[in-house]
Amino acid sequence: MVGALLSKIAQGNGHGEESAYFDGWKAYENDPFNPTSNPHGVIQMGLAENQLCFDLVREWILKNPAASICTVEGVKDFQDTAIFQDYHGLPEFRNAVARFMEKVRGNRVKFDPNRIVMSGGATGAHELMAFCLADPDDAFLVPTPYYPGSNDFKITRSALEEAYNHAQEAKIKVKGLLITNPSNPLGTVLDKETLTSILAFTHEKNIHLVCDEIYGATVFGPPDFTSISEIVTHENHKPELIHLVYSLSKDLGFPGFRVGIVYSYNDDVVNCARKMSSFGLVSTQTQKLIASMLSDKVFVEMFLEESRKRLARRHKLFTWGLSIVGIHCLRSNGGLFVWMDLRHLIKDLNPTVEAELALWKVIINEVKINVSPGSSFHCSEPGWFRVCIANMSDDTMEVALTRIRNFVVQKTGMVKPHVLTSGKRKCTWQNKLQLRLSSKRLEDIMGVSQIGSPHSPLPQSPLVRAT
Ligand SMILES: Cc1ncc(COP(=O)(O)O)c(C=O)c1O
Repeated sequence: MVGALLSKIAQGNGHGEESAYFDGWKAYENDPFNPTSNPHGVIQMGLAENQLCFDLVREWILKNPAASICTVEGVKDFQDTAIFQDYHGLPEFRNAVARFMEKVRGNRVKFDPNRIVMSGGATGAHELMAFCLADPDDAFLVPTPYYPGSNDFKITRSALEEAYNHAQEAKIKVKGLLITNPSNPLGTVLDKETLTSILAFTHEKNIHLVCDEIYGATVFGPPDFTSISEIVTHENHKPELIHLVYSLSKDLGFPGFRVGIVYSYNDDVVNCARKMSSFGLVSTQTQKLIASMLSDKVFVEMFLEESRKRLARRHKLFTWGLSIVGIHCLRSNGGLFVWMDLRHLIKDLNPTVEAELALWKVIINEVKINVSPGSSFHCSEPGWFRVCIANMSDDTMEVALTRIRNFVVQKTGMVKPHVLTSGKRKCTWQNKLQLRLSSKRLEDIMGVSQIGSPHSPLPQSPLVRAT
């Protein structure tokens, strides 16, 4: 067998391409929605991309032709860009990224450009971290999506202890805790108190804390995003055990550029990661473009503000559009997605993952929307789905909303007029197949941009699990 000649990783199925998450992608790839050429195709809502501000980036590129080597103004830099690249990264790139990371964190912390290590996206950054911190068979604790309403979805000390003790009993060596803040898939942020308690836990157990803050600038409403770097500075909890993973894939919407960052407070980790980063460097061409763009303070300021505004608007339109057929989402203020609650559509008295996946198949094949079932995020309570909302136009979002609403009407037999009011205006559910409101109309109904609308879905109370 040829397979036996390969490594264990190559022979295994660790990538998870067989999971529901990737099945949905395949369904989209086989029949992609296009408003004109394939209006009945599958709409991609499984991709956490931020495409709402590309007009601003395009405008900047046109105004700054020297930032690219593919222009009359920039071609003089071609040779210097094309030759050997060293793994430290261009000083102007590391400087610009450090300043950008500070800006995203409200300039409440300082980042040392000498600690910025490049990687191929946050994916590469995680690999670098695992390489530097763990050996084969060691483990990291990873909290699964959420925590219950009674404690405001916080990661609790008791759940962390439980997961840690489980690992101890199974004789698994825990090297660290990995958290994502803001959360994917929840779109929520961890508060200072929780971060401090998490740090106390990792400090006490003498394990690493890796914080993935890739969605830092997507927080569009209160409460503010608090970075672990703010806690490290102020509380001084064994900083050598604390590491940040970042990238420009979400905050700027550039996953194709593969700009990932490891920022560690541990000198040895910085040194090792820098050497190992040769496996996933950011191209010099990209470094130059990003250095130039992020050094433009006026642009960065405007982009971050506008991006938050557009994300808030999109989030509000979408959650409101769902709420009129009784679909609620977890209350969130960040990320590029919503965490949609369809537990009521799983009829079984004892909802199972199988029931969730059966519903998900109907959503993919009949509603023709690729969303991601909670089970693909190891969610312990069936019936939750992650729906990405920032990778499409307003019109496509509307088509998706109409499909979801029609599906709910068919599934629940909802025929009674359903009336919602907002201020002086009214929106009336008139006919189960005719409800279609333009985004503009929805905005009119919802009034000025404020996140906590009286009609915002109430937070639900998912179960807890930390593994
Ligand atoms: C929390 C989180 N970390 C890392 C990644 C990977 O990002 P990148 O494209 O920078 O590799 C993603 C992408 O969805 C993500 O959601």
